[in-house]
Amino acid sequence: MKEILALIDKLNKERQLTKDEWIKVLDGQCQETIDYAAKLAREAREPFYGKDVYVRGLIEFSNICKNDCIYCGIRKSNKNANRYRLTKEEILSCCKEGYELGFRTFVLQSGEDRHFSDEVLVDIIRSIKELYPDCAITLGVGERSKESYQYLFDAGADRYLLRHETASQELYSKLHPEELSLDNRIQCLYNLKEIGYQIGAGFMVGAPFQTNEHLAEDYLFLKKLNPHMVGIGPFIPHHDTPFADQPIGSLEQSLYCLSLVRIMLPAVLLPSTTALGTIHPKGREMGMEAGCNVVMPNLSPTEVRKDYLLYDNKICLGDEAAQARLTLERRMEAIGYRVVSDRGDSKNI
Ligand code: 5AD
Repeated sequence: MKEILALIDKLNKERQLTKDEWIKVLDGQCQETIDYAAKLAREAREPFYGKDVYVRGLIEFSNICKNDCIYCGIRKSNKNANRYRLTKEEILSCCKEGYELGFRTFVLQSGEDRHFSDEVLVDIIRSIKELYPDCAITLGVGERSKESYQYLFDAGADRYLLRHETASQELYSKLHPEELSLDNRIQCLYNLKEIGYQIGAGFMVGAPFQTNEHLAEDYLFLKKLNPHMVGIGPFIPHHDTPFADQPIGSLEQSLYCLSLVRIMLPAVLLPSTTALGTIHPKGREMGMEAGCNVVMPNLSPTEVRKDYLLYDNKICLGDEAAQARLTLERRMEAIGYRVVSDRGDSKNI
């Protein structure tokens, strides 16, 4: 135990560990190490973000996907998914509502839907920027060519979320169909960064077959990539996927992993994810106390929310909805945090 606490101290001083040290820290997870990591994570966050919580309005604009990721509820071979695609007008009306609710970042997220060509997306991005020049646009639309990323950036997109999912080739191939490669995914992240996007990578905790050695590789990769944002949440099975019977990722391990990312990259934007809020009613708050500083409430039209089902029981109504912004503010205030209404750019530059 002493050795693990000393390694967490070392991470806090040097902001990095070797692979063997990472494995020891991850293997050494217990209540005491979790609490210690959370305390150092909160301290590491303080000079950059204080008690500020950034909010993003999440617009899930299409659940049509050409990919077949084994873990994901909207994978193409799930014939039971109720597919939808929002029109430009519907997306703009989500932004209008979001703007009025005080959101200054819109996250446009979808499956890899071929309908959304560069032309179609550029038109949507330009319109949002024209109407709301003080807002940031974050895209989460998967793997595309560098040229495509450049067009979207030139049209006004500011940020891009593309979780690497796992930095291990071996695990990547167990979670994805053959057509998808870790190399391409990583290339996409470097392309995005080079173009000038603020980028977000990340992974699931407790994914099937995942070991602490795999997670150690995720930390080494994130250190090297040095992204502006990191998205981490527990794996949650979806009943219509081959992983339907796999166990849920643990809350404790998710919180521990979040704290360790914050200690390694103190200035990173770290969302307390929907998946965390799904596995525990206070998951979002627990995420904040583990070192997170971002929440992404759902702004999608209510009718389609239940259809963007990446995993079972995904929260999307209740306090999770963007419409419940006041409740969110109160919940954050209750634990000593303050929701702020600005773009909330990353300080990890
Ligand atoms: N459980 C948890 N997270 C999931 N994601 C996809 N499917 C699941 C699942 N079953 C995550 C992936 C993806 C992000 C949009 O959602 O990490 O990158």
